[in-house]
Amino acid sequence: MNQEINVNEYISAVSDILVKRNTKPRACVRSFGCQLNFSDGEKIKGMLVKMGCEMAEKEENADIVIYNTCAVRENAEDRVFGNLGFLKHYKEKNPEMIIGLCGCMASLEHVTRKLKNSYRFVDIVFSPSALDRLPKLLLEKLSGSRYAFDTNEYNMSSEGLYQERDSSFKASVPIMFGCNNFCTYCIVPYVRGRERSRKPENIIQEVEKLVQNGYKEIMLLGQNVNSYGKDLAESVDFPELLQRINEIDGDFVVRFMSSHPKDAGKKLIDTIINCGKIGKHLHLPVQSGSNDILDKMNRRYTVEKYLETIDYARSFIPDFSFTTDIIVGFPNESEEDFEKTLSLMKRVKYDNIYSFIYSKRSGTKAAEIEDMVSDEEKGKRMTRLLSLQREISTESYKRFIGRTMRVLVDGKSKTEGYMTGKSNEFVIVEFEGDKSLVGSFVNVKITDAKNWAVTGVII
Ligand code: 5AD
Ligand code: SF4
Repeated sequence: MNQEINVNEYISAVSDILVKRNTKPRACVRSFGCQLNFSDGEKIKGMLVKMGCEMAEKEENADIVIYNTCAVRENAEDRVFGNLGFLKHYKEKNPEMIIGLCGCMASLEHVTRKLKNSYRFVDIVFSPSALDRLPKLLLEKLSGSRYAFDTNEYNMSSEGLYQERDSSFKASVPIMFGCNNFCTYCIVPYVRGRERSRKPENIIQEVEKLVQNGYKEIMLLGQNVNSYGKDLAESVDFPELLQRINEIDGDFVVRFMSSHPKDAGKKLIDTIINCGKIGKHLHLPVQSGSNDILDKMNRRYTVEKYLETIDYARSFIPDFSFTTDIIVGFPNESEEDFEKTLSLMKRVKYDNIYSFIYSKRSGTKAAEIEDMVSDEEKGKRMTRLLSLQREISTESYKRFIGRTMRVLVDGKSKTEGYMTGKSNEFVIVEFEGDKSLVGSFVNVKITDAKNWAVTGVII
């Protein structure tokens, strides 16, 4: 509670200064990376709106620009530094512009050092576990400080912060923050701190409000949602939280991301199958199909154990929809290891995969391994993997032809006259329709399958 009062006091102090300046300040918040980061971005926008800012789409039209960054792969980091270069020009034209950087990159020492040495026009920096520092830092900056940097880890959960949501029908709801797993390739545990679960009653209350306000998709977020509740005094786990959310009145679909296979057991599958509001889909990042690589990644499951979960779900729903994350080219991944990944993909028949070439992150365990595989070879493996997945999706999407799918309509498709949305199984569905349908559920009879979507007609 104290934390909230403090934030609000800072917000009104900043607001007073901005009002005295006699113009309505415009703020642009740009988020990169995962959905959790986009959810943080909505809270940052929320604080700025409460300070009296108007939201600007583009940096060049803004008085306050905040980059909410991602550090999972090096190219994300490079992109942010590239974008900061552009901001420097805008700031030359508008010297009053305040530039802030937050998100995972803000927790990396080499980044803050680089900002202080070579990007001196960046005014504010704060780490992802300290979102509610923004008003205080803005106040310092507006009161004349040269820099307002606060990269300490506070392990706060930003409970109670107002969120300026990007969508009026799809809402992300973080249920926990941080990660304890220390997969050897991953920087997240170093930049987002240890696992902190939100109290179930706070989550339930938030979902109830969202549903009352017309939200149709609730996406529960956490680095590993299956660890939910382990750090709470009361005894509650993720399947129990799902059951409680499923009992909330209203017509909505519940999704969640991400699940760690070591913790995704039968209780989770039973809950997905038995709860009517939970989408019949599981995103289960496997990362590799080789037990040797999984061990080096510190993933703490084997391919055999992973397949048990898949087979258990499919013993109830034979074509249960799975998607996954795969890392290509973990240090010293052999051709044989890679082929095991391809075999696993053929065995599971994922509806979609998110694949990444391994990116070395200094500070992680894997960064210490001397890697003998060339970038060229990794690139070729990625091409082979994507081509296999296209074949798998084309074939597996055919199973939906003739079926009727319930679809939450997202918006216009790139095809003229067509709309696009997601089915209960999280499959992209395209159909003829108009934009009055956006944000509602429709029933679509599937007539055709492509390698990235299915198409059909509304019935
Ligand atoms: N290199 C490449 N991909 C990574 N991921 C996490 N860290 C790295 C890395 N260093 C991928 C994993 C994870 C997804 C969110 O990002 O596949 O599941
Ligand atoms: Fe990274 Fe592994 Fe934690 Fe996911 S579970 S955030 S991959 S350390």
